[in-house]
Amino acid sequence: MRWLLTVAIILIIIGIVGLGVINFYAFVPAQPGVTRVPVRGPGTPRPSGSFTSNGEQIFFTGTSSRDTITTTGGPVWFQMHGGGCATCHGPDGRGGQVVMMGSFRAPDITYKTLTSQEHGNGRPYTDDLIKRAITRGIDSNGEHLSRNMPRWQMSNSDLNDVITYLKTLDP
Ligand code: HEC
Repeated sequence: MRWLLTVAIILIIIGIVGLGVINFYAFVPAQPGVTRVPVRGPGTPRPSGSFTSNGEQIFFTGTSSRDTITTTGGPVWFQMHGGGCATCHGPDGRGGQVVMMGSFRAPDITYKTLTSQEHGNGRPYTDDLIKRAITRGIDSNGEHLSRNMPRWQMSNSDLNDVITYLKTLDP
């Protein structure tokens, strides 16, 4: 029986090393030759313990302490596992490459970036335009965002809570 135990231990070691390798390769270049950015999937790290605000809870978990939040669209893995804004836009809201059965980029959604005069769309977001992007998937220019951005059905109070949280993030 001793050999069985040895085999088990070896398998466990291989498993641990394997996880390390996977973690290491979870960093891929955004574009060839450009800095490596962290890759995200449904397992995005979230702060442990309780959240200090409802906006933070929505941002990290996609659930609200007030109302039920539902989503339509988004990638299939998101429809199955759910998640919050951080799942794609990152725990700091600054966006990056999302790799999970396919890969796409999620933009920086920190409040300062969205409302800046130099916003990539050419038109700064207002609070109402941010709400429209979240609920209807329409950007500040009136263009449809890709289906990778889920459409969120949430109350106006929840939307305000999320926006308040986005204001606390540094671009
Ligand atoms: C499953 C991934 C995913 C999740 C979860 C997600 N987003 Fe997005 N979001 C995207 C992608 C991808 C885009 C860019 C779509 C495009 O460029 O067409 C985007 C775009 C946006 C934009 C427009 C940004 C711009 O520069 O025009 C806002 C605002 C936004 N998301 C807010 C949120 C908020 C708030 C949450 C959480 C309530 C959230 N997103 C959750 C993937 C996601």
